[in-house]
Amino acid sequence: MPEPLVYLNGEFVPYSAARVSVEDRGLQFADGVYEVVRYYDGRPFRMQQHLARLVRSAAGIELPLPPIEEIRRAMDALVEKQSLQDATVYLQITRGPAPRAHGLVTDPTPTVIAIAREAHSVRPRPTLRVVTVSDDRWARCYLKTTALLPNALARERARRLGADDGIFVRDGFVMEATASNVFVVLKGRLLTPPLTNYILAGITREAVIELARGEGMAVSEEPISAHLLYEADEIFLTGTNSELGPIIAVDGRTVGDGSPGPIFNRLIAAFDVAVRSSQPIGARSS
Ligand SMILES: Cc1ncc(COP(=O)(O)O)c(C=O)c1O
Repeated sequence: MPEPLVYLNGEFVPYSAARVSVEDRGLQFADGVYEVVRYYDGRPFRMQQHLARLVRSAAGIELPLPPIEEIRRAMDALVEKQSLQDATVYLQITRGPAPRAHGLVTDPTPTVIAIAREAHSVRPRPTLRVVTVSDDRWARCYLKTTALLPNALARERARRLGADDGIFVRDGFVMEATASNVFVVLKGRLLTPPLTNYILAGITREAVIELARGEGMAVSEEPISAHLLYEADEIFLTGTNSELGPIIAVDGRTVGDGSPGPIFNRLIAAFDVAVRSSQPIGARSS
């Protein structure tokens, strides 16, 4: 198996040769943004939306980005050069190296890193058990920054409680999971929390909303009280890595009949068609 390639500041280098400074601000301050893009059959899924979110995240932390076309080409090239078909590309841009000081650097040289890894869509999706966790993250969760320690600790807490993931609850309302968005089916209605500064605007979330509407389902983006998780008929997560993940237990209570529900099954079938189609979802459903 050849060594994976890494894109680092304009060059493609072997994994073991990729080096960054010990004073990179990404390392010292989690001063950076990232994206994860999924490729199906060698083609990126919703690249435009990922790049638009990258631009928003970078603007949110006052980080100047290299030309966006360059970033897109680098990600495509990583997939092509390594002859990958189904893959995820992790892209991270930090404010780069600078002597450690809290204030922002006036003329930064960002560190741009991208790594592609083979990724397979496991079907049927593994079922998930989750626990609710108190959301102690900062108030700018709509920015996709590399400051993920609260998410990592919440995931670990869930694991220690025998679950696969945690759902963040803030002031009694469902926000999102540690690396995905949340959908709930309640009395026949498909609900997901509205976009606020407290959640990430998931690209998969947006695709699933469009797919559901294309399937004739009503979707409501509305605040969801955490206690409603215990009454839900179905709950599932959405994310680039996890695609759609059916939840069968919350805080040890069984969801529905304890297996993926009919709405989830319809949506993942539609998702599988959409990701392998060259046409955008909107074009298919209109
Ligand atoms: C906190 C959080 N929410 C939601 C998502 C889902 O976003 P996307 O569907 O764009 O992958 C992610 C993905 O990493 C995430 O980290």
